[in-house]
Amino acid sequence: MTRISLTVDGESVADDVEPRMLLVQYLREKLGKTGTVIGCDTSNCGACTVHLDGTSVKSCNVLAVAVDGSEVTTIEGLAKDGQLHPVQEAFRECHGLQCGFCTPGMIMQSVDLLKENPHPSEQEIRLGLEGNLCRCTGYHNIVKAVQYAAEHGGSGRTEQAPAEVTAGAPQEQGGHV
Ligand code: FES
Ligand code: FES
Repeated sequence: MTRISLTVDGESVADDVEPRMLLVQYLREKLGKTGTVIGCDTSNCGACTVHLDGTSVKSCNVLAVAVDGSEVTTIEGLAKDGQLHPVQEAFRECHGLQCGFCTPGMIMQSVDLLKENPHPSEQEIRLGLEGNLCRCTGYHNIVKAVQYAAEHGGSGRTEQAPAEVTAGAPQEQGGHV
């Protein structure tokens, strides 16, 4: 076992973890942060995306021991004072989800995308989200949600205090990102 100390969603945590434990397993199984989900075993789907020191990473592709001393933000740390992050609000407003399974990763990736490029074109959004798969194929409204977020304050906020993301209404079908 290896001792790690880090900050997750604004709270300091310390645990003994097995060297083989993945960050996504640590978040879900040790910290109970099940908003970060596992959608594949090939590092392809992006459902497990979190922010590591402010940059999006696939947490199934990172060992827990590797994040010792780091700051991690999950989907559960985006909202602040009971208010959804603007990107969460945009996904709700634009119905950017169907089953919602890909949504935490899509939102975390979108927040990072907008931080890097506050006013992305549709093509830049599709390229920025190409590492995140939506098995419901709801890409059309996901892209609309990121565009909406860019126009409504989603480019300015990144790290927030802990809170739960909420589900929204079903969306229309769309094409590939
Ligand atoms: Fe991490 Fe699919 S669970 S990329
Ligand atoms: Fe169902 Fe994306 S996988 S909304």
